[in-house]
Amino acid sequence: MTGGDWVTGDVAVAGGGLVGLAVAWRAAQRGLGVTVVDDAPGSGASAAAAGMLAPVTEASYGEEALLRLCAASLQRYPAFAAELEEATGLPVGLRTAGTLVVGFDEDDVRQLDVLHGFQRELGLAAERLTPRAARRREPSLTPRVRGGLAVDGDHSVDGRALHRALLAAATAAGVRVLRQRVAGLLVDGGRAAGLRLDDGARLAAGNVVLALGARSATLPGVPPLPVRPVKGQILRMAGAAGLLEGTVRALVRGRHVYLVPYGGDRLIVGATVEDRGFDATVTAGGVHDLLHDAIEVVPAVSELELTETLARWRPGTPDNAPVLGPSSLPGLVLATGHHRNGVLLTPVTGEVVAELLATGVLPGLAAPFTAERFTHR
Ligand code: GLY
Repeated sequence: MTGGDWVTGDVAVAGGGLVGLAVAWRAAQRGLGVTVVDDAPGSGASAAAAGMLAPVTEASYGEEALLRLCAASLQRYPAFAAELEEATGLPVGLRTAGTLVVGFDEDDVRQLDVLHGFQRELGLAAERLTPRAARRREPSLTPRVRGGLAVDGDHSVDGRALHRALLAAATAAGVRVLRQRVAGLLVDGGRAAGLRLDDGARLAAGNVVLALGARSATLPGVPPLPVRPVKGQILRMAGAAGLLEGTVRALVRGRHVYLVPYGGDRLIVGATVEDRGFDATVTAGGVHDLLHDAIEVVPAVSELELTETLARWRPGTPDNAPVLGPSSLPGLVLATGHHRNGVLLTPVTGEVVAELLATGVLPGLAAPFTAERFTHR
């Protein structure tokens, strides 16, 4: 349709990545009429994500509230994955083999000990391993590894498979997906009233959900929002059948790298973390560093087929936590800012935002993550 107007029952979701689709699916299950607008659903951060479900190995000082939200979402994953697979017949590749963190040199191992101390303070399950024990767990590790940390509760999922399943589940639940670029937010009488599309058409809605990831703050009409792009470059490889049992994260002379097996013989190696605005260039240096560090830790990586290199943007926020719930503009609901935890936080985000849309009440679990926290600093 060109130049015409669309009408949606209740909710327009800007963004058909994992987060937008999870919100749409859950909202449709609550009986709401939902339209998702995205010209290329799943081609943003969802396409690049390694799919780590790793609240414990990503735990950082000062981010305890975020850790609680991440843990709550991880707890939901088995049922979430099973429900999606049941609804669609599509696998999502949930992998529960656990995560191993290794240190390459003495300084790296000291950092592991700091992480382990923090995890113990918080009562999180993580076991310190000798180099030999780490290699028993993942025999393809280099003998040069100096120590490890086993976190059996940190899992992974195939992010692209998850997106396919969510798209199918949402569609089957009655969600309409408009494959158009969102051009702006419609505001009428001091309230969000829908979305303006690229072709000039307008989509009217009672509530609008902003789930545009790193682009969220750039949508014309959206009130100021501290969401910025944080570039990540990743590599995908094939031929890795049997190479790793679970996720391996490593510190290699102070640099972080992770290797995430998925889909039988596939492997993701990631990721750079770069504040470079909306630059999606895959750089020689980025690819070099990832390959160099991955091969240092698992030498057989050098034999794999490099099938894809990709750069996308995480939606970063000042405190690295998502922005969920109401905004300063009535009718505009936020589901963005998931930074490094978009895949992990997909189930809980779908649930709490759908609850808000259906009942007008944001569950207490999400209360620390409203945009209001940025106005009281
Ligand atoms: N959570 C992994 C990353 O953001 O690279």
